[in-house]
Amino acid sequence: MKILVVGGGGREHAIVHKLSNSRRVEKIYCAPGNAGIAQMAECIDIGVNEIEKLKEFALANKIDLTVVGPELPLVEGIVDEFEKVGLRIFGPNKKAAMIEGSKYFAKKLMEKYNIPIARFKAFCKYKEALEFLEKTWYPVVMKADGLAQGKGVFIVRDFIEAKEVLDLMMKKKIFGTSGDTVIIEEMLFGKEASFFAIVDGENILTMMTAMDYKKVYDKDEGPNTGGMGSIAPNPHIDEKTFKEVEEKILKPVVSGMKEEGIVYKGVLYAGLMLTKEGPKVLEFNARFGDPETQVVLPLLKTDLLEVIEATLDGKLNELKLEWEDKKAVCVIISSQGYPLEYKKGFEISGLEKIREAFVYHSGTALKGDKIVTSGGRVLGITALGNSYEEARKIVYREIEKIHFEGMHYRKDIGAGY
Ligand code: AMP
Ligand code: GLY
Repeated sequence: MKILVVGGGGREHAIVHKLSNSRRVEKIYCAPGNAGIAQMAECIDIGVNEIEKLKEFALANKIDLTVVGPELPLVEGIVDEFEKVGLRIFGPNKKAAMIEGSKYFAKKLMEKYNIPIARFKAFCKYKEALEFLEKTWYPVVMKADGLAQGKGVFIVRDFIEAKEVLDLMMKKKIFGTSGDTVIIEEMLFGKEASFFAIVDGENILTMMTAMDYKKVYDKDEGPNTGGMGSIAPNPHIDEKTFKEVEEKILKPVVSGMKEEGIVYKGVLYAGLMLTKEGPKVLEFNARFGDPETQVVLPLLKTDLLEVIEATLDGKLNELKLEWEDKKAVCVIISSQGYPLEYKKGFEISGLEKIREAFVYHSGTALKGDKIVTSGGRVLGITALGNSYEEARKIVYREIEKIHFEGMHYRKDIGAGY
């Protein structure tokens, strides 16, 4: 089989790596890929949102299956476009991807089907939002309705902060049309968990839980990032909570979408807050998480291609997933300054010395025969162990061998479990 993977981050490297272990896969292309992916797939210079070009490439190269990593092409309808011309593609269609593409849509759906969420109000008029902010209790969480590259959520502590955020979203339009509607919601407290399921339109197969470390510095200090590390399974989810999430969140959201005429096929990722009153949904994503995929897929023993095909054929009920009985820890190495401004183009050395961990590339590029930094998050180093502590030790031992100017990573990923 010939496969095209869309994306160029650590998540896509983990997907390509897993698919390259499948016996039936002859060739993998990745658009646009990165320097690490280039070692196991042919990288194609097409951006993730160039849907027309991706389609032409898939047709011309007789691609048997396309796997989409990031949210943007899903929300823009890559699946619909590919399916129109008979190409097989893994991911939800445009309507279904609205669960991630519009927070307002997702909230209304969850409210209608009694799924536990933070109480909220949505505003499309500046004046009405401002009037609400004048009289509400603080803190509250303000969110841009549409996609904002993970930057559209603000926790605000008083009216002054709230007005600043509202101005940025609705007047300065820093998120473009994504901020036309603003959600204002109650702040939830507890531990966060990422919950991954695969849905074939009918059946839901719960995969694995994970924990994402969002803040840039140790002890959860500093600004939010795309994720500075992850561990799986999530140590805060016991069997009871797992069942509760399946029954009260995943099943009703999939059947709710069905009632609304939406057939969901693909990965469904629930971002949860484990509150005192039980798990509540912070958001749904229509794809795998990054860097959670870098801990979830290394634990998956079942052939990923089989999982994807069973999803497309509506046969997930016939599949049982097998997992390594281990813990996984992934530490992200980022460029100094990330998530704000950072420099690129520094040579990365020592990668060839890594023996006991997987190295997933995110922001890397080839410059001649050298691998250089080309993004904020540069590498993800994942190790498996019989305990989180064992996996942690391996990761941090291996990281010592890697070097580039200004490299930064958290030292506390997976600590304390
Ligand atoms: P989201 O994109 O909606 O998942 O939000 C990004 C991050 O903002 C989450 O992972 C949480 O850390 C935080 N967050 C979002 N909504 C809330 C909420 N209602 N209460 C507390 N934290 C939140
Ligand atoms: N790790 C968070 C995300 O992928 O959205």
